[in-house]
Amino acid sequence: MEIFSAVDGYIGGLFAKEDEALTAALHDMREAGLPEISVSPVLGKFLHMLAKLAGARRILEIGTLGGYSAIWLARALPEDGQLITLEIDPLNAKIARRNLARAMLLGTAEVREGPAAGLLRQLIAAGEPPFDMIFIDADKESYAEYFELSLKLSRPGTLIAADNVIRAGRVLDPDAGATDPRVAGIVRFTDVLAGCPDAEATMVQWVGTKGHDGVALAIVKGRGPGSPHSGKNQVPAARCA
Ligand code: SAH
Ligand code: DHB
Ligand code: MG
Repeated sequence: MEIFSAVDGYIGGLFAKEDEALTAALHDMREAGLPEISVSPVLGKFLHMLAKLAGARRILEIGTLGGYSAIWLARALPEDGQLITLEIDPLNAKIARRNLARAMLLGTAEVREGPAAGLLRQLIAAGEPPFDMIFIDADKESYAEYFELSLKLSRPGTLIAADNVIRAGRVLDPDAGATDPRVAGIVRFTDVLAGCPDAEATMVQWVGTKGHDGVALAIVKGRGPGSPHSGKNQVPAARCA
């Protein structure tokens, strides 16, 4: 709907203005033929504010593309903060590094290249300290698996956000899953999330310049004072997938 897009532009003009680093990032991505599926400016600003509300010092992103959302997220971090973003496509990773460098964020943000599931398992095996915020935005088929692995990189209070969970309402269509594995993957993930005792969650639907879609938001739960899982850096066992 045209009015939704126009209002999105209006909100963006007021509160999510892109600077040179963000516009140049989008420009270079377009030149390189990358798909135009970065978050919108308004969603970028929303994620930026969520990161600040969460007091995030360490953020993990799954699905980098050209680094557009990574710039919004990394800019929410304190000076000594850290963002790790995972990307399977070497060309995307290269463009993302260039875009992050132009935004003066290469000291804060690191692009790790490879299939995300393997990289997540490496982080877990390496005993990576828990992240304060995790943004899931890679292949939709694997969201449930990414969520399960994300829980192992979380602490009670970690904010997990996942993009593209509405898909213009196709998640409501019982047949869509059969023909579109991405919609099936999203529905599998949101079912897991809804039944997950280890996280409190909801979803928000968006309309705007990118059509009708939405984000899922989850806060990883503690297990109550005195429980063996209540320690500050205790990683909850993943029981949700
Ligand atoms: N977060 C970005 C958009 C990400 S688009 C932004 O808003 O700016 C999804 C990205 O996930 C693509 O770059 C795609 O190459 C990557 N991707 C797809 N499958 C993946 C996988 N298995 N592991 C890691 N990255 C993957
Ligand atoms: C697609 C992926 C995204 O992350 C997105 O925001 C929009 C579309 C896609 O794969 O079609
Ligand atoms: Mg997305």
